[in-house]
Amino acid sequence: MSTKAPRDFRPALHYTPKKGWINDPNGLVYARGKYHLFAQYGPEPHWGDIHWSHAESPDLLHWRDLPNAIAPDGLGMAFSGSAVYDEENVSGLGTPDNPPIIAMYTSHGEQEQQSIAYSLDGESFIKYPGNPVIHNTKKPDFRDPKVFKNPKGGWTVVLAAGDHVEFYGSEDLLHWQKTGSFGPDGNYSKGVWECPDLFPLTLGGREVWVLLVSMGACPENLGSRTQYFLGNFDGETFTCDGSFNKPEFIDSGFDNYAGVTFFGTQERVLMGWAANWVYAGDLPTGEFCGQMTLPRTLSLVDTPLGGPRLSCAPVSDKLFGAPVPIDGSLPGEVFKLTVSGEGAADITLSKGGGEAFSFGVDSSGEVYIDRSRAGLRSFNADFAKPEYGRISAPRFFTGPWTLELTFDRSICELFADRGTRVFTQLLYPSEPYRHIDLAGNAKAEISLMI
Ligand code: FRU
Repeated sequence: MSTKAPRDFRPALHYTPKKGWINDPNGLVYARGKYHLFAQYGPEPHWGDIHWSHAESPDLLHWRDLPNAIAPDGLGMAFSGSAVYDEENVSGLGTPDNPPIIAMYTSHGEQEQQSIAYSLDGESFIKYPGNPVIHNTKKPDFRDPKVFKNPKGGWTVVLAAGDHVEFYGSEDLLHWQKTGSFGPDGNYSKGVWECPDLFPLTLGGREVWVLLVSMGACPENLGSRTQYFLGNFDGETFTCDGSFNKPEFIDSGFDNYAGVTFFGTQERVLMGWAANWVYAGDLPTGEFCGQMTLPRTLSLVDTPLGGPRLSCAPVSDKLFGAPVPIDGSLPGEVFKLTVSGEGAADITLSKGGGEAFSFGVDSSGEVYIDRSRAGLRSFNADFAKPEYGRISAPRFFTGPWTLELTFDRSICELFADRGTRVFTQLLYPSEPYRHIDLAGNAKAEISLMI
């Protein structure tokens, strides 16, 4: 694989490593006035020798890289996990005046087991001498612990164990006892379960728990995709709400995997790895490989056609200025388009010579996004296939629609139906798009970064 990119594909708004590889976001935590983003990191621009990298931000949008936080050791590579701020120092790993940030990650050796590292300065991490804190000798897949405060007291971790998730409880974040499990659930067990998260949101004044489960690459799901379930957490285990009988993908596009939410924020903010295991290793970006999705605020919305659904809103909107009408030429490679219409409409971005990217609402009323002629594709045989080109999904609302597309050089995110339908797509235009054309009953406005 070449480490030279055909042109500069580095996004402006999406987090990327300066060099090397990243996959899943890890340890998302807000502590001591800073957001922390760790990631599955390899020093070369391909997966391997996995560490936790580390970056911090005052606003979720401007990131400063810090030294790697967790390195492989005798227990194995440092696979995915989470972090919490132990403000009451229940772990005893800090002091009441200087409580620790605690990261729980999977030690991936001959077995997968859960280990802890902690930080007293928000930058350097010390491995807990009693690792692993959750042992395992049997299960081949047993990883990606997500720790959260249990509303009934103490702490809970949810982790993935092949075709189901397991819950463990603890008073001190160091000693853990199993409290329950959830899954497998019919069709939605396709692909090994990975990177779960569990958190409450409210819907019409009622508390509803959201369980996110990523599913490893499988043909039925068109690669690696993330599903969510709605239901209840009783302090020990999760049960799915009977009225929410069909789990839904969190993203209808191809490129939002292993997404989890921040610990310690007022609003619930999700970040995912913007790629798909099917082709992630071959992206034509040169010395770096991998990018995160935009951070997204999550809420629950009652939809007329789908019932309760998760809704996502990108945190980056505040970086864009006032929208102005557009139909014709496109300025630059980073912008936000807001398109409103009714019935079918296509919006096409192009550079001439047949290369074009389009999205819109098709004649059957589905929202679609189509990168099948959008630029470079042959860097990976699957990426080049038609099934990884155009994708569509039914709407959850009827009548007029608004589509909001954030375009960031080699990645775009389309938010439809009040954020209940989101499509995250990588695309590699061989030159910047210069034109925008609208077909059908639609009006477009553009906002540029301020
Ligand atoms: C998800 C995943 C995790 C694992 C990590 C390894 O993308 O497979 O299950 O911890 O990546 O890098």
